Amino acid sequence: MSLQDRLLERSLSDPEGFWGEAAEGLHWDRRWDRVLDGSRAPFYRWFAGGQINTCYNAVDRHVAGGRAEQPAIIYDSPVTNTVRAITYAELLDQVARFAGVLTDSGVKRGDRVIIYMPMVPEAPIAMLACARIGAIHSVVFGGFAPNELATRIDDAKPVVIVSASCGIEGQRVIPYKPLLDQAIAQAHHKVESCVLLQRPQGPAELTPGRDIDWDDAMAKSRPVACVPVEATDPLYILYTSGTTGQPKGVVRDNGGHATALLWSMKNIYNVEPGEPYWAASDVGWVVGHSYIVYAPLLNGNTTIMFEGKPVGTPDPGAFWRVISQHKVVTMFTAPTAFRAIRKEDPDGTYIKNYDLSHFRALFLAGERCDPDTLKWAETQLGVPVIDHWWQTETGWSIAANCVGVELLPVKPGSPTKAAPGYDIRILDDEGEPVPAGQIGAICIKLPLPPSCLPTLWQDDERYEQSYLKRFPGYYLTGDAGYKDDDGYVYIMSRIDDIINVAGHRLSTGGMEEVLASHPAVAECAVIGVHDALKGELPLGLVVLKAGVQTDEEEIRKELVQKVRDEIGPVAAFRHVAVVNRLPKTRSGKILRGTMKKIADHEEYKMPATIDDPAILDEIGDALKPLGYG
Ligand code: COA
Ligand code: AMP
Repeated sequence: MSLQDRLLERSLSDPEGFWGEAAEGLHWDRRWDRVLDGSRAPFYRWFAGGQINTCYNAVDRHVAGGRAEQPAIIYDSPVTNTVRAITYAELLDQVARFAGVLTDSGVKRGDRVIIYMPMVPEAPIAMLACARIGAIHSVVFGGFAPNELATRIDDAKPVVIVSASCGIEGQRVIPYKPLLDQAIAQAHHKVESCVLLQRPQGPAELTPGRDIDWDDAMAKSRPVACVPVEATDPLYILYTSGTTGQPKGVVRDNGGHATALLWSMKNIYNVEPGEPYWAASDVGWVVGHSYIVYAPLLNGNTTIMFEGKPVGTPDPGAFWRVISQHKVVTMFTAPTAFRAIRKEDPDGTYIKNYDLSHFRALFLAGERCDPDTLKWAETQLGVPVIDHWWQTETGWSIAANCVGVELLPVKPGSPTKAAPGYDIRILDDEGEPVPAGQIGAICIKLPLPPSCLPTLWQDDERYEQSYLKRFPGYYLTGDAGYKDDDGYVYIMSRIDDIINVAGHRLSTGGMEEVLASHPAVAECAVIGVHDALKGELPLGLVVLKAGVQTDEEEIRKELVQKVRDEIGPVAAFRHVAVVNRLPKTRSGKILRGTMKKIADHEEYKMPATIDDPAILDEIGDALKPLGYG
């Protein structure tokens, strides 16, 4: 039995002993009464009765413990020609003062603060400042449209929004202020106060009476100390795509989250305190929350904040330059980033320009890692390339190769085995376990380990409905896949309407809602089709209302623009086919899976319940001009 399997076994047979020991690495203001509280099962709570402050553990503790002069954050921004190190002492000063700004703006413990920011150090400073005073942050990814921001404002009801005047995407400056204004105007919940970081690349005019300038506010502010909060209190809400246009507010607690993340840094990523660690993601995603901000800081690492892209900022050598310049030992990104680099530099010419001798491992997640990309990265870098699988709901990996425990053999196509705390079961439609090699719904037997969502924001019912109802006693991951004879997990597809575009999780149901609201559209479907760079891309199929006179090309353009305006550029929605009818079962269910197979040139079985098989040929013909089918 491998060491990882042994740890898994212990974590499942003695969860309180296992996670209680892991929690000893943190500073607790009050020790917990119970490691695992199952009194309200299936709503489990970790470290009930304990009091902790996540910001204290991520910042103050390291200043007190001798890391004051060590860089906590290195902000590396090729798009603004900036490289700036912020020491733990400086970070503490900034965070404590921004906590003062929030307090002066009326933010109290338990209040929500929305953070809508690009990849600048002020984003983690604002997050940590919330944690410091027990406020709950909700970071919204910059690539979402105002409508998505407005939905989150209405659900989280923030007291303050923290934003910046602009983001920078490659060569383009994206003004954020108009997006912010539009979202605030659209939301029903009224936001009284915004703190705005002015960036020289694109300053904005502040709205009098509502907006405060970040620098002015910081200059006037006084530092505020950490407030102990309940271990079970929410640290943040992170909205993620569900099966409708209404995103799910995933709640993260303080105590369980800090415990699991700290454990993961040593045992999964194999990094020691003090070492530079880099997650090339965005603070708006869960990878950014966990592995740009919280985990590396909890572990006393130097975290790299990279405001750039894998290619074009300025070239496909950007990642190697950052690894070499900042002596990064371990990096984490999405496979799509490596596909982008490989496309521009297939022979890895740029890698040879940099000294990467200190680099130990590359971790990939966020989407299925195709074996080709994994092999290419391994060959080019000469270090283990580790695929690991997780989701916004868990905050850390469900299946991983725990390199800090031992390096298990890498099997391309598999994110390895269950991480400690996760009792992964593959179930059939009746909830029965399936044999090795057979595909089923990937579930986790309750209780979930620390850091996993205790519920959805103010919606216990949706939490139960979405995750726990399908198979009582199990958490439904939404992914389908299988385990092989060695217990390695393979993630094959989703069982819902979620697609993964360049490592970004999106709901096709949400896009269908947007298309359906166009006055010319009678019916529609959105499917995720294979894309060599981004993994998947959304493709719309629409049936127009009888009598619509507008030119089809014009409608297609309007639909593309509508998804961009209402969901955001990140949806990368570019292709729409106008069809006469959609294939359906006799009971009226649209056959999205079959259309996806047609688009991807895959073999498909004629569905037994199809209403009219001839429609499938029509779909194939309609997709051909778009390069599909
Ligand atoms: N603010 C505003 N707009 C944003 C944005 C942000 N934070 N992030 C992305 N966008 C925009 C992009 O500019 C692009 O707009 P466009 O349609 O006008 O060109 C659109 O959203 C799609 O973005 P993206 O999917 O990132 O495509 P891209 O072509 O700009 O870059 C990759 C492609 C592969 C280089 C990039 O997606 C990447 O590096 N991804 C991997 C890493 C990652 O972040 N994974 C997340 C989870 S780990
Ligand atoms: P997100 O919540 O945005 O992190 O997306 C989570 C989803 O991305 C998972 O449920 C999977 O569908 C997919 N995913 C994440 N990591 C992997 C991986 N290593 N392999 C396959 N799919 C993955």
